Amino acid sequence: MQKIPTNSTAGQRTSDLPLDLSEAHVTPGASAQDRLYQALRETIAKGLAKPGEALPPSRTLARQTGFRRNAVINAYERLIADGFVIARVGSGTFVAPRIPQPAAAARKTKFAVERLQTGALALGCTHIDSRALRRFRSFVGRRMRAFGAEHLHYGDPRGSGELRAAIADHLLTARGLRCDPEQIMLTTGTQHGLRIVLSAILRAGDRVWCEDPGYPAAHNAITHCGARPVSVPVDKSGIVVTRGRATAPDARAAYVMPSHQFPLGMQMSMPRRLELLDWAKDANAWIVEDDYDSEFRYDGAPLLSLAGIDHLRRVIYMGTFAKTLFPGLRIGYCALPEALIAPVTKARTAIDRFPSTLMEGAIADMLNSGAFSANVRKVRGIYREARDALARTLSEASEGRLQVPVPSQGLHLVARFGPAVDAAVAARAKARAGVDGWLLADTCFRIRPMAGYVLGFAGHPLDQMVDAADKLAKASLAALRKR
Ligand SMILES: Cc1ncc(COP(=O)(O)O)c(C=O)c1O
Repeated sequence: MQKIPTNSTAGQRTSDLPLDLSEAHVTPGASAQDRLYQALRETIAKGLAKPGEALPPSRTLARQTGFRRNAVINAYERLIADGFVIARVGSGTFVAPRIPQPAAAARKTKFAVERLQTGALALGCTHIDSRALRRFRSFVGRRMRAFGAEHLHYGDPRGSGELRAAIADHLLTARGLRCDPEQIMLTTGTQHGLRIVLSAILRAGDRVWCEDPGYPAAHNAITHCGARPVSVPVDKSGIVVTRGRATAPDARAAYVMPSHQFPLGMQMSMPRRLELLDWAKDANAWIVEDDYDSEFRYDGAPLLSLAGIDHLRRVIYMGTFAKTLFPGLRIGYCALPEALIAPVTKARTAIDRFPSTLMEGAIADMLNSGAFSANVRKVRGIYREARDALARTLSEASEGRLQVPVPSQGLHLVARFGPAVDAAVAARAKARAGVDGWLLADTCFRIRPMAGYVLGFAGHPLDQMVDAADKLAKASLAALRKR
């Protein structure tokens, strides 16, 4: 610690300024003016130089510390700008009457995010074929090497025209949905798409029909937008439109999964689709179609998308690469009715301007080169085998007490207890087995909680998945016997 004479004439005594250039808060390799600034700021912040006390004249400080005078002047100017000292013309530089509070050291916070499930039976995992991954890496590399001006500016709120065109082609071939690339908007996924679209079409407090049981993440996104989800039950044909009409005839929108209801897995029948479209027309409402896993169809052709039947007039179509490629990509897309392009684009600009451009080219390359559909074909076979193994293990190990309909589409299945069994039995068995996956009851909003599980069969090593399923089924049997 050096003592630098301040030549102060203000007080009774000539005071010294204590200065330590070797303390931890002084960055060793920093420039002379930075180090001097940090040391002076610390002296003031610690109260070693009191408000109103003079700082040494710059010449004195330079001489005593060996720094150039310019470095001292620069350090003083920064202290003035930051409010630690004030300069009085003709009389010198003084510690400010009130100095800013030093930034508190970062504290360890107690907040912890919910544990992410990645173990066997977890939902939301995918498998990507090694050849597809190699091609994706090479497309990303090539695009990064060619990095050009398109990434340096603000972009179209809907995303790059190139990827939107590739998605429009994909929708036509894979889903029979004819739309112009102008109608496509890229998002970071389904929840993000919901948020943008709903903020454009709803007013706070508007009601939105939601299938019950349904997809909790979408339910949360709808609530978070300030809208009110209305629980509408489903039967084997899909959402029960008559119940929706009875409960909330004037809802402004319906969020549905017509191709593969989550979690129960049924396809919405054609009469039910037409009934839903009729309601939307009568109520002047919008329908959001979440088509999250139609690329993975195992038996027979999928029905045309609801948006395809409606010719994108009242239906907003949402798709995602979270299942067909991988969730970490955070890229999804909407196909918008023409009437919504302007309001939705405006909402997108207000929310987050436009999507990141960096990955768009590589995904367009995946779609346009055929690598995307080759990957879907390859992993579909792997998923089918995993689905069959999971369904078989659950049925056999539970001695038939779990009902496991084999889904004809998607990456998850539902295993249910009989209707008389309480949902708590499933919760106990799952906790006992210590496996990932969801309780079916967690997807029930207003209806009576159902006893069973929602289990993912994609992206897990087959032997681990079978082991986990065996444990869960046996724990279920034991929990049933204990009732
Ligand atoms: C019903 C449903 N919709 C959509 C998605 C995709 O969500 P995102 O695109 O936000 O990852 C999922 C993913 O698990 C899902 O289960």
